Amino acid sequence: MTRKILVTSALPYANGSIHLGHLVEYIQTDIWVRFQKMRGNECHYVCADDTHGTPIMLRAEKEGVTPEQLIARVWQEHFDDFSAFHVNFDNYGSTNSAENKESAQSIYRTLKANGLIEVRSIEQYFDPVKNMFLPDRFIKGECPKCHAKDQYGDNCEVCGAAYAPTDLIAPFSAVSGAKPELRNSDHYFFKLSDPRCQNFLREWTRGGSLQAEAANKMQEWLGAEGENKLTDWDISRDAPYFGFEIPDAPGKYFYVWLDAPVGYMGSFKQLCAKTGIDFDDYWKQGSDAELYHFIGKDILYFHALFWPAMLQHAGFRTPTKLFAHGFLTVNGEKMSKSRGTFITARSYVDHIKNTEYLRYYYAAKLNGTMEDIDLNLDDFVAKVNSDLIGKYINIASRCAGFISKKFDGKLADVSVETEIDFQNGFHSLNEIAQAYELRDFAKALRNIMAFADDINIYVNDNKPWELAKQEGQEQKLHLVCSAALVLFKQLTAMLKPVLPKLALDVEAFLNINPLTWNDAKSKLPAGHTINEYKHLATRLDPKLIEAMVAANQESLQPQAHSEQRHAAHQQQETKKAMTETETTPYISIDDFMKVDLRVARIVDAQHVEGADKLIQLTLDIGEEKPRNVFAGIKSAYAPEALKGRLTVMVANLAPRKMKFGMSEGMVLAASGSEPGLFILSPDDGAQPGMRIK
Ligand code: 2FM
Ligand code: ZN
Repeated sequence: MTRKILVTSALPYANGSIHLGHLVEYIQTDIWVRFQKMRGNECHYVCADDTHGTPIMLRAEKEGVTPEQLIARVWQEHFDDFSAFHVNFDNYGSTNSAENKESAQSIYRTLKANGLIEVRSIEQYFDPVKNMFLPDRFIKGECPKCHAKDQYGDNCEVCGAAYAPTDLIAPFSAVSGAKPELRNSDHYFFKLSDPRCQNFLREWTRGGSLQAEAANKMQEWLGAEGENKLTDWDISRDAPYFGFEIPDAPGKYFYVWLDAPVGYMGSFKQLCAKTGIDFDDYWKQGSDAELYHFIGKDILYFHALFWPAMLQHAGFRTPTKLFAHGFLTVNGEKMSKSRGTFITARSYVDHIKNTEYLRYYYAAKLNGTMEDIDLNLDDFVAKVNSDLIGKYINIASRCAGFISKKFDGKLADVSVETEIDFQNGFHSLNEIAQAYELRDFAKALRNIMAFADDINIYVNDNKPWELAKQEGQEQKLHLVCSAALVLFKQLTAMLKPVLPKLALDVEAFLNINPLTWNDAKSKLPAGHTINEYKHLATRLDPKLIEAMVAANQESLQPQAHSEQRHAAHQQQETKKAMTETETTPYISIDDFMKVDLRVARIVDAQHVEGADKLIQLTLDIGEEKPRNVFAGIKSAYAPEALKGRLTVMVANLAPRKMKFGMSEGMVLAASGSEPGLFILSPDDGAQPGMRIK
């Protein structure tokens, strides 16, 4: 029976780039969707950019563009990144769409009509300079527990304490630096504490829509039977806010997390308009279609509590299942900019190019649970080269040439090959299908690779390269190579959800129609003509990985250790810097005094082998040992011209390990919108080591 399935991935925020952490989810979802489609199910995959909220509004302001311009640009970047990784949405929309607005407003109206919306006045920090209420993340101050300075309004990064912004000592607006004022404002709440919501969520949690770990979390949030632990959810924000206005509530906007999941519907509506699919068929209460949301475990709260409760009480169906996954670590650690492991999708494409390598590696690690997965870069290279190239591609590359050269590209009748059961191969196809279905791609690939091993044994045992040299062995050679290619086709069908582009190339090479799941057990007819074999994939060179990591590290150097900016980016940067000045918070004299600025004598300056921007400086600041500092000033100074002169350095910047050695400080330099970079000099009389304040 054909299943009707609607699948979503979480909507990425429109204020950042897609990185390898994001891709765990999109690749996982895409593999599952492709598998469903290959099985002949009616499966639709939609997603969108998550475009609303204060951070996006402020970022647009900083860049001197409208939020609409910003989100249009980011949409294109996201879309291109996903396409490069073969993530094939049936519709990729935006939460800032007419369809989404209509859905969000209509859901809200129904919830209101059902008595689930309440208006309450709340007290909140207001920035009197920017004239706006401040989200917790935009208020800073001193931690009430450990007294660390410059902590966010919701929790302290030093001691980990969680608190309300009003608990902060000496709070200030992170937007303007102003002292915030407490003001009252009416907010709209979704009454999650209403017994109807509580009861429904308890039942829903028992209904099998959640993985075991997620159901446990829900129990924790819901509390024991009879306990009312859920609190109402504040769904409104005051103007100025980039989002949708709440009906009949001028100046009040839906909080971004209200219209974000509704974005799943909005994007699907666009797909319906394009294709004629019936929206209600998938979304109305009682629908027999299946609805799955792939999400990260960090946003379970929104998807397991708010979202089903909203849907249920607005007359829609609820999700069939939530598929939550863990986070990505790289080489066993959190992705890190300083280690060069915070890798964007774009950077991967620029360095490695072949995005199916990553799809394969992620698939080999994903098992359908909420466990974190690790991208170990050495293991990545090893796995791609041993499995994909060594086991899979190798089959075709060893057998195809004989068919083309000796048999005019035509396959033999493989039914006379009695060693192989082509229906069941050497493997259990059902087990593989089941593993895909359960998102245990690791298991599916283990079985598929065991099949590849068996095909390789068959080829090795029969040695076509030797048969080709022996008299009277043509028929055997023809049969062995044809059988191997038929099995290669089956293998390709099984791998197609993971490797869609490679499968496309194999389809062209084997001269066959797009592979479906049934092709994983079918043969090719005698006399079928294949095309000439051209190489399908090459080994992954570990140097490419090294270069990618180095590039991600290097890109930080100019910001961290010098004031140099690329000429091409200067205008844009200066504009940004100017708006930054307008919105940079004030600092106190204490803050300023934290920076230990010293007069330094440049006792030596040298070129740095292999670095285009850096000069290595030896700086005397009156200490026993001179400091070693790498400064990005090569575009403006020759090392010889620097020797002996005085300049200014930051002496208490934490030492930093760079590719070329340790850097023990930073030299200050000025730059503007025109090309040019100028280091500073003190007046005559200043001595190395003098403090600047
Ligand atoms: O956490 C995030 O990145 C959100 N932008 C996810 C939204 S998912 C859905 F609810 F829209
Ligand atoms: Zn603290």
